[in-house]
Formats: sequence, structure tokens, C-alpha cells
Amino acid sequence: MTILSPSILGADLLRLGEEIEKTQKLGIRWLHLDQMDGLFTPNIAFGPQFVQAVRKKTDQFLDVHLMLEYPMQYIEDFVAAGSDLITIHYEAKDDPEATLRAIRAHGVKTGLSIKPATPPEAIEHLLPLCDLVLVMTVQPGYGGQTLRDDCVHKLPVLREMIKKSGREIYLEVDGGIKLGNMARVAAAGANVLVMGTGLFNATDPEAVVRAAHGEA
Ligand code: DX5
Ligand code: ZN
Repeated sequence: MTILSPSILGADLLRLGEEIEKTQKLGIRWLHLDQMDGLFTPNIAFGPQFVQAVRKKTDQFLDVHLMLEYPMQYIEDFVAAGSDLITIHYEAKDDPEATLRAIRAHGVKTGLSIKPATPPEAIEHLLPLCDLVLVMTVQPGYGGQTLRDDCVHKLPVLREMIKKSGREIYLEVDGGIKLGNMARVAAAGANVLVMGTGLFNATDPEAVVRAAHGEA
């Protein structure tokens, strides 16, 4: 059984309310909200006010992914906006340990993400501060890219590290997840699957949900 976290970046933004209702009708409990600063990523999106607007619409678990070079200065704003979990990047310029501690101090769950070039061993010492680890399976910045197989091998390594840590930590994947590769990334150790275009453009979204439940 894996958790689906639909990435709003893949939704039709002019019909955002309906797109969120669609995920609710499918019984999906999480939403993934990407934030990009144009520095850490080549693209720009969406800001705390957007998170706040989504918060007003739903009680789903808001999984906020900060692809920001300097996340620290925005933590309070994203907490106030109603985030349930805030993920930062190991490669950001702000010290990841200090930023994770700041998120935790606000009583919000913490996530730490690694880009394709970062080895899993780099973050092992930070696992005690994490509620979630996010393995990017594309270069951060855009939806609709193809999953990089060279990132999937990190999942069993991290699964083992998490086991060794003795803590309950979600292992999430983000980028290029589709109906056709969900089972493979779950078998490799992921238990939260971010899905943007793979869900919002799916001809049969119910089949995606069944696959996440291990029924396909
Ligand atoms: C990419 C974002 C992803 C993106 C995934 O930088 O972090 O969350 O929306 O989109 P798909 O599932 O379409 O690859
Ligand atoms: Zn993301």
C-alpha cells in the first residue's frame, strides 16, 4: 500500500478547485505542492499564499516541496499557510540541519530531498531530523519529465538506512512517476509516490489509485 501525493503542478490551474475535488473523490489523502524560486530551479512557482488558498479548500495532508536556494526565511510563512509537512533540499544554500530544526520547532513534519546527483549516504546523519526523505527522480523544475532509472537504485539504500535509524520515515519519490512504473519504485522501497501529469492527465485515474493500493 503506497500513498499517492498528487503534484498540483500537473493540474489544470484554471480549474484548481475541481482538480482538488477530483483527488478527494478518488480517496487521495495527500497533495504535493511544489515551490520554486528561479534560483534552485530554472522555473518559478507558487508561494505561501497559494498553499493558504489550497488549505482553505481541503483538509488533505499538504506535502509542501520547497525547491528554494534559501528556504529558511520562508519557513514561518509556509507553516502559517497551513503546511502539514515541509520538505527542503539537502543541496540548498541554507544549512539543512538548521532548517529542519526550524520546521520541527513549529510542530510541522520535516522532509529532506536529494537531487539526482546527490548520493543517499550524504543525508544519513540527518535522518534523526526527518519524517520524510524525498528522492528526486528528475532534475527539479518541471512536471512531465521522464523518470531517471539511475535514481531508483537509491531507494533500497535509503530504505535500509531508515530501518537502521529505527525511526518511521516516509520514503517519497518525485518525477516521472506513472501507472507503468509505480510498482517498480514501490518494490524498490518508496511508500509515497508524487504524481503530477501521471495522475492529472491519466485516462483512468482510478487505475492509478488501485495500483497504489496494490490491487492492479
Ligand atoms: C518537479 C516537481 C514535481 C513535478 C512532478 O520539479 O518537484 O513534483 O510536479 O511532475 P510529474 O509527476 O509530471 O513528473
Ligand atoms: Zn515536487
